[in-house]
Amino acid sequence: MRRAVIRGTGHYLPERVVENSWFEDKLETTDQWIRSRTGIERRHFAAEDQRTSDLGIAAAKAALDHAGISVDQIDAVIVATSTPDFTFPSVATMVQAGLGMKRGFAYDVQAVCAGFVFALANADAMIRAGQAERVLVIGAETFSRIMDWTDRGTCVLFGDGAGAVVLEAVEGDGTPADRGILAVDLNSDGQYRDLLYVDGGVASTGTAGHLRMQGNLVFRHAVEKLADTAHRAVERAGLTTDQVDWLVPHQANSRIIEATAKRMHLPMEKVVLTVADHGNTSAASIPLALSVADEQGKFKPGQILVAEAIGGGLAWGSVVLRW
Ligand code: UT7
Repeated sequence: MRRAVIRGTGHYLPERVVENSWFEDKLETTDQWIRSRTGIERRHFAAEDQRTSDLGIAAAKAALDHAGISVDQIDAVIVATSTPDFTFPSVATMVQAGLGMKRGFAYDVQAVCAGFVFALANADAMIRAGQAERVLVIGAETFSRIMDWTDRGTCVLFGDGAGAVVLEAVEGDGTPADRGILAVDLNSDGQYRDLLYVDGGVASTGTAGHLRMQGNLVFRHAVEKLADTAHRAVERAGLTTDQVDWLVPHQANSRIIEATAKRMHLPMEKVVLTVADHGNTSAASIPLALSVADEQGKFKPGQILVAEAIGGGLAWGSVVLRW
C-alpha cells in the first residue's frame, strides 16, 4: 500500500515582528489581555510589497532544500490559503512559476484555518491513488491584509507566514506501523458560516473585505470539535490516544490548545506551541509549527503526530501520521 511520507519541511516568516504592545496606543487593549486570553505575544506582518505567493515560494524553497530534492521531482503543488494575491490565477501556479517548475500541476485549496489539513488530505489521496509521487503542500497567508484595525476582537490575533512540506510516496504494509499519513478526518458545517467570515468578495461586494468573528462562539465549537476529530482520526489509524507522541494543533489560542490536549489526555509536553511567536496564521499555522518543531529536532522517526485545525465555514479536521 502506498503511503505519503513527509520528506522535508520548511517555513518563512516576514521580517517585521510586531509585539502586543504595538496595539496598546491604537486600540483599547493591553499586552496583558492578549497574552492571558490567547497566549499570543507577537506576530509577523508581511512588507507592503510582499504577497502570499512570495511567502509560499520562500517556504517551498526551504522545504525542497531540507528534503534534498529538486523542483523537477515534484509532480504537484497545493497551496492552502484564504488570502490569495489575486482572485485568479491560484497562488499555487505563482509558486510553481516562482520555483521555475515547468511540469506537473498546481492549485489552491480554501478551507480557511483548516486549509492545510484539507490540502494534506488531498495530497495523501493523490499519492495513494498513484496520481503523484511527490507533492509540495504549502500553507501561506497574509491575514494582515484583511484585518479591520479598529476591531480589537480580531486584529490582535492574526499574523502572516508560510510553511511547507514535501510529501513522497513510499511503499508500506497497510498497517499502523507504516510511516506516513495513516488517517484523515475532514468535516464542515456551513450553517455556522456567519461565526467567522470575510465581509467582501468578488460576487458580493467586489472588494476583498475584512475578517469578522464571533470569537467566543468559535471558541466553544473549537474546544468541542477539535478533540472529536482528533479522536476519530486516531481511531481510524488503528491507534489509541495514548500512542500519540505529538499534537501539532492549529495555533489560534493557547487556551483552545490546552483544552483540546486535556480532552485527549495529552500532557502539554507533547504539544507543539508556536502561537506566542506567530499568532494565528490561519492555513500557515500547522506547517509553520511542523517546520519549527522539526528544525528543533523534536520529532523522532516512528513517532505519531496528530495535526488538527478548525476555521471559517466552519471547517475542521485532523491528520494522523507516523514520522
Ligand atoms: O483560527 C480560526 C479559529 N479562531 C479561533 O479559534 C478564535 C477563537 N476565539 C478566541 O480565541 C477567543 O474567543 C478570543 C481571543 C477571540 C476572545 O476571547 P474571549 O475570552 O472569548 O473573550 P470574549 O470575546 O468573550 O470577550 C470578553 C471581553 C469583551 O468585553 P465585555 O463585553 O466583556 O466588556 C471583549 O470586548 O473582552 C473584550 N475584548 C478585549 N479586551 C481587550 C475583546 N478583545 C479584546 C482585546 N483587548 N483585544
